[in-house]
Amino acid sequence: MYRTHTNGELNITKIGTKVTLSGWVHRSRDLGGMTFIDLRDRYGLTQLVFNMDTDSGLCKQARELGREFVIQVTGIVTERSNKNLKIPTGEIEIAVTELKVLSKSITPPFTLEEKSDGGDDLRMKFRYLDLRREVVRKNLELRHRMAQETRKYLSSLDFLEIETPVLVNSTPEGARDFVVPSRMNPGEFYALPQSPQTLKQLLMVAGMDRYFQIVKCFRDEDLRADRQPEFTQIDCEMAFVDREDILETFAGLIRHLFKTVLGVDFEENIPRMTFKDAMERYGCDKPDIRFGMEISEFTSFAKGKDFKVFDSADYIGAICAQGCAEYTRKQVDELTAFVQKPQIGAKGLIYARVNDDGTIKSSVDKFYSPEDLAVWASTLGAKAGDMIFVMAGDKKQTLNALNELRLEMGSRLGLRSKAIFRPLWVIDFPLLEWDEDSKRFYAMHHPFTSPMEEDMEYFTSDPGKVRAKAYDMVINGVEVGGGSIRIHDSEIQKLMFKNLGMGEEEVKRKFSFIMDAFRYGAPPHGGIAFGFDRLVAMFAGLDSIRDVIAFPKNNSGKDVMIDTPGPLAQEQLDELQLRIDKKEKQ
Ligand code: AMO
Repeated sequence: MYRTHTNGELNITKIGTKVTLSGWVHRSRDLGGMTFIDLRDRYGLTQLVFNMDTDSGLCKQARELGREFVIQVTGIVTERSNKNLKIPTGEIEIAVTELKVLSKSITPPFTLEEKSDGGDDLRMKFRYLDLRREVVRKNLELRHRMAQETRKYLSSLDFLEIETPVLVNSTPEGARDFVVPSRMNPGEFYALPQSPQTLKQLLMVAGMDRYFQIVKCFRDEDLRADRQPEFTQIDCEMAFVDREDILETFAGLIRHLFKTVLGVDFEENIPRMTFKDAMERYGCDKPDIRFGMEISEFTSFAKGKDFKVFDSADYIGAICAQGCAEYTRKQVDELTAFVQKPQIGAKGLIYARVNDDGTIKSSVDKFYSPEDLAVWASTLGAKAGDMIFVMAGDKKQTLNALNELRLEMGSRLGLRSKAIFRPLWVIDFPLLEWDEDSKRFYAMHHPFTSPMEEDMEYFTSDPGKVRAKAYDMVINGVEVGGGSIRIHDSEIQKLMFKNLGMGEEEVKRKFSFIMDAFRYGAPPHGGIAFGFDRLVAMFAGLDSIRDVIAFPKNNSGKDVMIDTPGPLAQEQLDELQLRIDKKEKQ
């Protein structure tokens, strides 16, 4: 037997017991005639003690042990004189009588402590060592608990966990596909699923009624802190439902996870906001509602005062930062530079301070009278001590810049605490999005999303006006999930493809399987998928989903530990009948 107990479970009640433990040498200290070793495993740390006076041979052997050696010890649980009440095993130690080295270790390239001295790249290259650190391990434990609770909740509601294939063809989520060549069908390729969207709809046609899967999805897109090329969804679909059923069922899932995993209770219903409201009041479709600082539109009254920047603008909007009237010139300049960054692209930032005596001093006093500025302040509800920030330009871009500025000010003012969670349903998204470059509509969610009945009159005449039965779950400004009620009528589906500029041939090639299925009695259905990595990261209070994935990819889509992607051997290329264009490769 390698062990009678783990390193996290022995305590004062076990004094006098003979135990055998195994694990890694975490730390070692020699103090006079004693050697202390912290033995580590997944469950915790246990202090081992070796005494030169009682067994000098064993003590010398212990002094030879290096960091991360794997050892097995037998000894007696004894009460510690110097107790550490911060850990569960801190009141005891093991007086070791036998020691065996199970495996030696060379010196690890970084320290395996809470704050490691290893940089990101190094830790990723040796991810199996990084995962030995308690902080990283805890994230995976949290992930496991969340997966279990998800299964528990959905199974209790009769959802079936059904696996769908990974070698499929292109799925309609709008990113680039990862493809896999088929040896048995030379020149032909599978695509990895961007999501199991079409398959879960076919499961509804198949009568499965309620489906879920904690499933890997693959998207070849530019990576960010909250995006990985392969990521995990809690993917769900239900038959015979309308939007209300879905929102209620999955608000239930989110409540269940918060309650069972974090002990957080949401007493109120999860609020809802239309896409239009979200855009106008927060400048984005995933508002962080932990704080107010909403955007107000100034377009109607801020024009016509000879200030060219505003007069020529399509849109003028403002926010009020409470208590920021004292901001120095330098701080305002910093914010101006922030909104002028190329990714945000604002032309400039106008400010107006509401002084303690109620007078208002702005950077555009030349054009705006105290009465004009008083209208600005009253529109925003700005009070003495507040600072007003105004931006103008193209509507979409200006709203986006105001959103970025609002988030920045929220962070600066400490209004975005990670201990507070504010879930929100964003609903009534537009069905289609116009792309000026390609002069065509794209599905805002995906082509199977149902239009709203009340907007059907525009479906062929003015499709840009049609809203969708689509919804996103947003928590603290992060889109953690999204879904929709689907089209289950093949005629409407045909019209949808037409609106997307897809000809009959293209539809047949890409989607005949699902169009055919709809001819055999498709139940009304709808669903949602949560970004599982994002949810876990949010529960862990982390910004990057990489920290909650055992073996993540870096920003160039590489796994530096297993060194992938890499070239294929010539034999394999030959077998697949593939030729690499050398010029392209360089
Ligand atoms: P959608 O594309 O909105 O919907 O994806 C659902 C959720 O998955 C997460 N997500 C990601 N997480 C990490 N890395 C990525 N690259 C990434 N891309 C998306 C987000 C997102 O909200 N089939 C539909 C769902 C449906 O209609 O039922 C779908 O995949 O949190």
